[in-house]
Amino acid sequence: MRVLGVETSCDDTSVALYDSEGGVAENLVSSQVELHDVFGGVVPELASRAHLVNLLPLVDALLKRQELELTDLDGVAVTRGPGLIGALLVGLSTAKAVAMAADLPLVGVHHLEGHILANALTADMELPALVLVVSGGHTELIHMPEIGRYERLGGTLDDAAGEAFDKTAKLLSLPYPGGPHIDRLAVDGDPGRYDFPRPLIHDPRLVFSFSGLKTAVRLAIQDLPRPLVDRDVADVCRGVQDAIVDVLCRRLFRAAGDRGVRAVYLAGGVAANSALRTRVSTDAQRRGLHCVLPERVFCTDNAAMIACAGFHHLSHGRRDGLDLDSFARSPLTSWR
Ligand code: KG4
Ligand code: ZN
Repeated sequence: MRVLGVETSCDDTSVALYDSEGGVAENLVSSQVELHDVFGGVVPELASRAHLVNLLPLVDALLKRQELELTDLDGVAVTRGPGLIGALLVGLSTAKAVAMAADLPLVGVHHLEGHILANALTADMELPALVLVVSGGHTELIHMPEIGRYERLGGTLDDAAGEAFDKTAKLLSLPYPGGPHIDRLAVDGDPGRYDFPRPLIHDPRLVFSFSGLKTAVRLAIQDLPRPLVDRDVADVCRGVQDAIVDVLCRRLFRAAGDRGVRAVYLAGGVAANSALRTRVSTDAQRRGLHCVLPERVFCTDNAAMIACAGFHHLSHGRRDGLDLDSFARSPLTSWR
């Protein structure tokens, strides 16, 4: 089965082709990072307009590279939310038009399910599993007994993990999005210099909070001499990354232990973080839990993960109509 995926929930325009025989045949991403960088964050109206300009040429490019016609496809999968409504609507209208023109089945996919199923792009997932979804807008612990069944066990009470990275980066005058820059700079940072708080670490609930950490980081940066020097920037990056990775991992493995799962997975943009990947792999191995991490390109927003999720919906006979709507917020729910 060949499924076309369309993802436009935030600031990446992406189309992909997932083939149930051979996996990801194509994954094209047009990034808007330069467009939004001067504003220090995503400007929703600019994002929608850029999707409008970029999306159809990307679909054309994909078909040309694969030497396919629309009628060679077996279905269209599109992100319906959560995300920026205007941005989502561009993807949704385009996916509907393609489905209608070529008489293909259409399925709407929850963005977080896409991130989770990025793990299925490399190898079959070992289930039941505990998945830590960490992106720019979400920090959630999801129990997953099988594909299509999701139970949210907990999440953040305020900022998402990606936001904590991005806000620290902004305070250090690093480009947007800050996560990858902190990842790179933290390598040279002194782990002993800053001991930032691990908020709610002793709380028995499966919750996270990153707003207190943000305040501690802001105060630490305020105390530094100006202009900021590379050593100080690297030390702050190392301190904040260590704190975020520590709280994420402790909660993930506590939840995994409580539920007695066979595997743990990471999902979302922050899953590209080197320190998080190393710590999760090591801890999983020590506890005898299966853990294969998604490739970095499939951690940040991409349409391959949406096409893969769409394939699972379609193969279970799920379809949406042309009245499929978008949503800005909505929890991930089971469809099986
Ligand atoms: O999943 P994603 O591409 O978009 C959302 O759905 O939000 O995640 C974007 C987030 C941003 O906050 C970005 O800074 C963060 O993922 N991120 C990283 C890394 N790469 C992306 N954070 C830490 N380390 C990274 N290497
Ligand atoms: Zn995302």
